[in-house]
Amino acid sequence: MSGPFDLTGRVALVTGGASGIGVGMVRMLAEAGATVAVADRDYGGAERVAAGLRAEGLQAHAFAVELADEASIVEMVAAITGWLGAPWILVNNAGVQDRQLLLEGTAEEWDRNNAINARAPFLLTRECARGMIASGNGGRIINVASCSLRGQAIKGLASYMGSKGALAALTKASALELAEHGITVNTVLPGGVASPGAINAKGPEAVGPARRMPALGMCEPSDIAGAVLYFAAPIARYCTNQTICVDAGWSVT
Ligand SMILES: NC(=O)c1ccc[n+]([C@@H]2O[C@H](COP(=O)([O-])OP(=O)(O)OC[C@H]3O[C@@H](n4cnc5c(N)ncnc54)[C@H](O)[C@@H]3O)[C@@H](O)[C@H]2O)c1
Repeated sequence: MSGPFDLTGRVALVTGGASGIGVGMVRMLAEAGATVAVADRDYGGAERVAAGLRAEGLQAHAFAVELADEASIVEMVAAITGWLGAPWILVNNAGVQDRQLLLEGTAEEWDRNNAINARAPFLLTRECARGMIASGNGGRIINVASCSLRGQAIKGLASYMGSKGALAALTKASALELAEHGITVNTVLPGGVASPGAINAKGPEAVGPARRMPALGMCEPSDIAGAVLYFAAPIARYCTNQTICVDAGWSVT
């Protein structure tokens, strides 16, 4: 395979690759030729995803990580680099999405959301960018935020949206500092996907604009993965600090 979307010979690290949208991203990047590190605290789930793809002749391997723990992140990136080579693609996909009403909000829930949805991507960006720079071949970083930042929200997302806003801002800051190394940094905003994480999210009843049906229906993980593939692909080499919102037309309803 060759062409504008060919990722043969590239190592891709996808966090949260054991469930939901991440599974779709892992598959699409592997099908494009990448060797994918499927990183998750659910190692068993990550290994099931990776083994399934290997059975199809694709390249995927599971890695355990606890994203709330800096040492775990540092160790995981070192393990991937030692085994597969330095990641050329980092997809900061893993996230928690429980709800808590603002007036009942706790510092603990704010900290939990920000630790996993924003702090971990910051640490992963630092660790992976160091490897990308040492390799001298540039790289791709894709941050997965949420279309709730565009208003497709429900009540209870103060901590979640705060963390996703921080992640979107991290895209801009890191795009500036990493451009001189040929590393692009972009954001994908998923719309509604009926993933395990979305279905099982804890919290008050989901009330708000995001309860209306998107014009085109609910997204599948592959719909979100398509935007990730674009930003990861050779064709997108001059695309940085940009955002693609895959919301199935929520914004026009
Ligand atoms: N599903 C949606 O409708 C939707 C909409 C907008 C944005 N998103 C975002 O898309 C991303 C993926 O969401 P999803 O719906 O597929 O979620 P999901 O819960 O189905 O999958 C998330 C994965 O991340 C892993 N993970 C969570 N915390 C972790 C930690 N501390 N350490 C290591 N791994 C951890 C989980 O084990 C799980 O495998 C998230 O960032 C989410 O905020 C989802």
